[in-house]
Amino acid sequence: MSSGASCKAIANLLPCWAASCIERLDDKTLGAKIAEFKQDHLHHVQVLTTMASELGIEAPTEGDMKQMLTTGKIALADIMGDSAILKAMKTNEDDTVTAYERATRHEDAIPASKAFFMQAHQDEEKHRAWMETTAKAL
Ligand SMILES: [Fe+2]
Repeated sequence: MSSGASCKAIANLLPCWAASCIERLDDKTLGAKIAEFKQDHLHHVQVLTTMASELGIEAPTEGDMKQMLTTGKIALADIMGDSAILKAMKTNEDDTVTAYERATRHEDAIPASKAFFMQAHQDEEKHRAWMETTAKAL
């Protein structure tokens, strides 16, 4: 896979699903944390979009397939409450953790891209850990 292809793969994993989750969470203190994570995601998307355009790749739009899937998953969890929503969101974080993990190992990535992938990977690990711990505690 070229560095361009890996960049596209990651951009595909960053749908803007966080907004719908904030609205669905009953506990507003949980929503504040998710809003913070959403800022991380927006920053990631910004960097990835710049990378994509430098590489001549068309960045995916918000209405892609992955977004529909993740939104559907969270809509289903909505019936079951906050803990189920966080567990559904955690599976999305699993995907991004894996994608960034792969990207950090990519041989074609220039040092600046590699540094970004490592930072984004740490962010996603942090998101996932919080969702896991919080979902269990609810
Ligand atoms: Fe995340």
